[in-house]
Amino acid sequence: MRIGILGSGRMGAALGQQWAAVSHSVTFSYSRDPRRLAGLAHASGGNARAGSPAEAVAASDVVLVAVPWHRLDDALAQSGSLAGKIVVTCSVPMTEDDSDLAVGHTSSGAEELAKRLADARVVAAFNTIPSELIVDPDRLSRPVRPEVVYCGDDAAAKEVVADLIRDTGFEPVDAGPLRVARWMDPFALLVAQLAYEMDLGPEMGYRFLRS
Ligand SMILES: NC(=O)c1ccc[n+]([C@@H]2O[C@H](COP(=O)([O-])OP(=O)(O)OC[C@H]3O[C@@H](n4cnc5c(N)ncnc54)[C@H](OP(=O)(O)O)[C@@H]3O)[C@@H](O)[C@H]2O)c1
Repeated sequence: MRIGILGSGRMGAALGQQWAAVSHSVTFSYSRDPRRLAGLAHASGGNARAGSPAEAVAASDVVLVAVPWHRLDDALAQSGSLAGKIVVTCSVPMTEDDSDLAVGHTSSGAEELAKRLADARVVAAFNTIPSELIVDPDRLSRPVRPEVVYCGDDAAAKEVVADLIRDTGFEPVDAGPLRVARWMDPFALLVAQLAYEMDLGPEMGYRFLRS
């Protein structure tokens, strides 16, 4: 799979590195520091490169949106057309001071993104896990994998994203249509509260029990 990363910070770098490690072709983009992008690509091995947002999108079938919510318009303006692409968003729609959701209850970051990208196949995923869990080296050897909820309206796109979730060492949990992202965003804040404000620590995940 050819994957473009829009926003190569904690989430974009962690996911892109994992995908490059299992042979996906990854293009890291959208940093204020081109040297950081180049270093990230170099550290990720032969399957990764650095590029502009437009290059990352043009070279990819799947695009990960991992920018702070207040940078979304700027990142999209540099990206060119995302028509027909599978767009995975992990972006939680926080206010610029990071104190609250900027969108909520009747919409979500993913739904607002889908409105902006009418021809893209938007899937919400990875927004409910801390980046530290993605890079935890012990995660892949644990007998029980943490889960990741995801949602979207395009069944084929969701299958692709479910495989990308498995590729990062998580089990995908299909939460239904994209409108469910409006419940995932607050859940993401609960996970962040537990990871960063309480004493569980950031290398924590969740798993739903079945009878
Ligand atoms: N961190 C987590 O654990 C976590 C978990 C779930 C969801 N999320 C969501 O994932 C998204 C990305 O979060 P993150 O923690 O990966 O963010 P981050 O580490 O701050 O990375 C943000 C990325 O955007 C780039 N960027 C370019 N211009 C920017 C600007 N003017 N201001 C800020 N960043 C700019 C940064 O580049 P440079 O800094 O290199 O210039 C970097 O590549 C957010 O929407 C967040 O809500 C994060």
